Amino acid sequence: MAGENRVALVPGDIPTISKLGAEVWLESGAGIVAGYPDPAYQERGGQIAPDRKTLFQKADILVQVRAAGANPEGMAQDMKLMRSGQYLIAFLEPLWSPQHSQELAAKGVNAFSMELVPRITRAQGMDALSSMANIAGYKAVLIAAETLPRMFPMMMTAAGTLSPAHVFVIGAGVAGLQAIATAKRLGAKVEAYDVRPVVKDQVESVGGKFVELPLETGGAEGSGGYAKAQDESFYRRQRELMAEVVARNDVVITTAAIPGRKSPLLITADAVKGMRPRSVIIDLAAERGGNCELTRSNETIEVHGVTIIGPANLPASVPFHASQMYSRNITTFLRSLIKDGAINLNMEDEVIRDTLVTNDGKVINERVRSLLEPASSAQVSA
Ligand code: NAI
Repeated sequence: MAGENRVALVPGDIPTISKLGAEVWLESGAGIVAGYPDPAYQERGGQIAPDRKTLFQKADILVQVRAAGANPEGMAQDMKLMRSGQYLIAFLEPLWSPQHSQELAAKGVNAFSMELVPRITRAQGMDALSSMANIAGYKAVLIAAETLPRMFPMMMTAAGTLSPAHVFVIGAGVAGLQAIATAKRLGAKVEAYDVRPVVKDQVESVGGKFVELPLETGGAEGSGGYAKAQDESFYRRQRELMAEVVARNDVVITTAAIPGRKSPLLITADAVKGMRPRSVIIDLAAERGGNCELTRSNETIEVHGVTIIGPANLPASVPFHASQMYSRNITTFLRSLIKDGAINLNMEDEVIRDTLVTNDGKVINERVRSLLEPASSAQVSA
């Protein structure tokens, strides 16, 4: 995919996979942009396929970074090479774009979605969304620091005292907590808000100040540490209350997300107008419509003197470490899937059950099916 620099496996994890009784084959040059050349794989037992077609023919399990709904153009090419009964493990975006999962099912591909790894203790080592969000939170702060016409730390110099930058992080999940910690390490004063009140201690433990808003958030926590969607009157009130906090900060980093939904709108054009000129907004939710009304995905714009950046696919901009983390997540996943060199589809295992989207020609994941059903019943009636 254009701009995708990550690779799904790094050389260091190949011996672990070999010990499971599997062979690892890869596309020539797969890791080169991320900093992992072919010989590094070969030294650890990886084998280079002569071409992509042979690779697809050989593989019982394909591991990729983005496939299906996470990479529709790539999928159109890969579908010609995939075969029925083959397994696929990748980011698939099945909750955002379920029709692509349906196409995989029709092809007979058994696909696991890395987005659906449950947030349970045993699956932490496979939680690729958290790995990538960590990188995005870190990188968002670096981009903000680069863009802001101020430095982050307070400095007392012979030429006078420089006041620290003020940073406000909205959404204190994985990306948000890493953004708070990184901004704090650079010396900024950091405030943060989240609808899940339980994160207050976590915000404080990484050096942020939790902003208290008079909102009823008792029911905001969904399952697995994710937030539940609120009604529009809640978001309206939140926007009003937060506008003042937004206005007093130099940098606002937004990460508010609800799984499978459009991002909640939390910063209006009016709130942007209230910010000081040359302030910066980094909207990590840009690919899902953005938390700021003015954000444009993958663009940098300036409105009312404020720079608004909507980066897409930040983890791909740190491909060495992003690949290392993703590869470890995939390898840990493979350890649950492969026993003595054979695929062992244990549906008693919660991780396997939750992540398997398609099997035996059908979309079997309940969450994905529920998104497809309204569409298919509409088709039937049409
Ligand atoms: P997460 O689910 O761990 O965190 C999202 C947080 O937002 C949760 O703590 C949730 O409670 C909070 N939230 C939801 N509604 C809110 C509201 N109305 N006000 C305040 N907080 C609210 O998600 P994670 O993994 O930290 O990812 C965060 C965002 O970063 C997501 O939008 C994700 O898609 C995005 N992301 C963007 C990347 C990029 O390159 N632009 C790369 C990786 C992640």
